[in-house]
Amino acid sequence: MRSRAKACSNIAIIKYWGCADPEMNIPLNSSISITLEKLYTVTEVEFSSRFYRDEIRIDGERICGDDRRRIVDFLNFIRNMKGRNIKARVNSTNNFPRGAGLASSASGFAALAAAACDAIGLHVNGRELSKIARVGSGSAARSIYGGFVELVAGKDHDGCFAYQLAPPSMMKIRDLILIVSRDKKSVSSKEGHRIAVTSPLCECRIRIVRSLLPELRSAIMRRDFDKIGEIAERDAMMMHSVMMTSSPPLIYWSGETLEIMRKVVEMRDEGIKAYFTVDAGANVHVLTTPSYESEVAERLNKYEMIRSGIGRGVKIC
Ligand code: PMV
Repeated sequence: MRSRAKACSNIAIIKYWGCADPEMNIPLNSSISITLEKLYTVTEVEFSSRFYRDEIRIDGERICGDDRRRIVDFLNFIRNMKGRNIKARVNSTNNFPRGAGLASSASGFAALAAAACDAIGLHVNGRELSKIARVGSGSAARSIYGGFVELVAGKDHDGCFAYQLAPPSMMKIRDLILIVSRDKKSVSSKEGHRIAVTSPLCECRIRIVRSLLPELRSAIMRRDFDKIGEIAERDAMMMHSVMMTSSPPLIYWSGETLEIMRKVVEMRDEGIKAYFTVDAGANVHVLTTPSYESEVAERLNKYEMIRSGIGRGVKIC
């Protein structure tokens, strides 16, 4: 009873921040992301009656404490669905820094969901798998699919699933990921989602996001890169405004985050197609097109950079 899966991370253009149901990771708003081919997790899961406890390794390190609890709870959810109480060995590797705001929980829980379901013999379709992955981490639901993906907020577990809006071939967007910090973030997104509603701006952002969602879907269908970029920047700023005005305030940016954001705006003033977005961390994603990629990369070459195109969905490998 062993299986291995590979899942790519994703970057949300319209992000999710705040939960209606924190236990099941039912978000307050729907979100839309791009799956990233160059950031991925490969996870192997083995279930056996010979194992007396769950053993979890990530990037060669044995996981304990809260991180272990979160994964064991997730395995319990899958074991309950299958009705089998059987322990697991999980071995996971990321090709990028974990917990630094590069959505390692997205690729991590997507790969874990796929490998664990396959290994235990729970054969489900993409929509069901996205719901299961969401229980581990909200953004993981979107990593089940490639290309442009929406996570529908829904009211309950059944209504909250991801689906593919458009395949990777829809358009060529490049994401230059600038790694300004490899440190594990001091406040987890789980905690951030919990305190989001303490911000007076949270409700206002949710209202604006409701009107941005149809605009973004239509921009993707029209292959309108500038509109996609504008929405990405706008929502990143709104989400970080919510974070900064929460109690206690959450400030994920560093001086370099701000420096890169300014450089991107400067580039755009010169006619270069580039837009930024920032997740729950200090690292910056710069979205551009293949024809501007080398110029943008050149201007930002003092930072450590991963260049990614649009990736595919989770795969048993
Ligand atoms: O999936 P989580 O619980 O790590 O939350 C993800 C939150 C953001 O990355 C900031 C936004 C998003 O929608 O991916």
